[in-house]
Amino acid sequence: MSANPIRSAISRYLISKAIRRSVKLVHACYAKDGLEATIDLLFTKECELVMPWQFKEELLALATRIEAQRPKVVMEIGTATGGTLLLSCLLAADDATLISVDLPEGDFGGGYPAWKLPLYSSFAKPGQRIHLIRGDSHSRDVHQQITGVLADRRIDYLFIDGDHTYEGVKQDFETYSALVDAHGLIAFHDIAPDRAPMPNHFVSVFWNEVKQRYTHREFIKHGAEQSKWGLGLLSVDGSAI
Ligand SMILES: C[S@@+](CC[C@H](N)C(=O)[O-])C[C@H]1O[C@@H](n2cnc3c(N)ncnc32)[C@H](O)[C@@H]1O
Repeated sequence: MSANPIRSAISRYLISKAIRRSVKLVHACYAKDGLEATIDLLFTKECELVMPWQFKEELLALATRIEAQRPKVVMEIGTATGGTLLLSCLLAADDATLISVDLPEGDFGGGYPAWKLPLYSSFAKPGQRIHLIRGDSHSRDVHQQITGVLADRRIDYLFIDGDHTYEGVKQDFETYSALVDAHGLIAFHDIAPDRAPMPNHFVSVFWNEVKQRYTHREFIKHGAEQSKWGLGLLSVDGSAI
């Protein structure tokens, strides 16, 4: 049965209004009270429609390190409801370029619909530019769009939270780490092993390989017992993080 178009329009209107309100609150909070208070706010009911799909403590630990770098070029694979993209806008330089890649619909959470594009664009600070690419990060077309946006620039901060299969995350890393600056940072979500009876997240397997080659940090709230989630950060030039 198809959805009632009037109901859908009303629901989009209400969701859009609530998201715009959350974005305003989050920007104001960051300007006034700083990072920790803003991350607290992102995990409240007032921000439920843009809440990051993360553990608050893990995200704060990662965000503190990204904020210290004030990246000028940020790329995120896997945006979903926009929580980590919104946070990246706050952490990035005032004139930063941000690139988000997500599927129109898909696995591991399902992307986002086209009507959310203006909402996600509104995450930017006044001097920032956001490029929202709705497509498969593994496709040639998406890669071309990204190299077109970058022109002669390099990515300062790459956040990989898209395809959680071993092959998928490996491909994202191999393709897009090649575009990261020599002093850049690369973060992964879901580095804790998936301990479910039928695991379907394999980022941890790739993470355990790739981290051997880099200076890295792991932020895993519940330590060795944790199943899934957990953030990992790599420093490309080996500097301390
Ligand atoms: C876990 S969610 C991202 C959550 C978000 N980073 C946050 O913390 O709020 C993963 C997203 O990756 C997207 N995704 C999965 N495979 C992808 C692919 N091959 N290319 C682009 N996006 C992909 C999904 O559509 C989904 O929206």
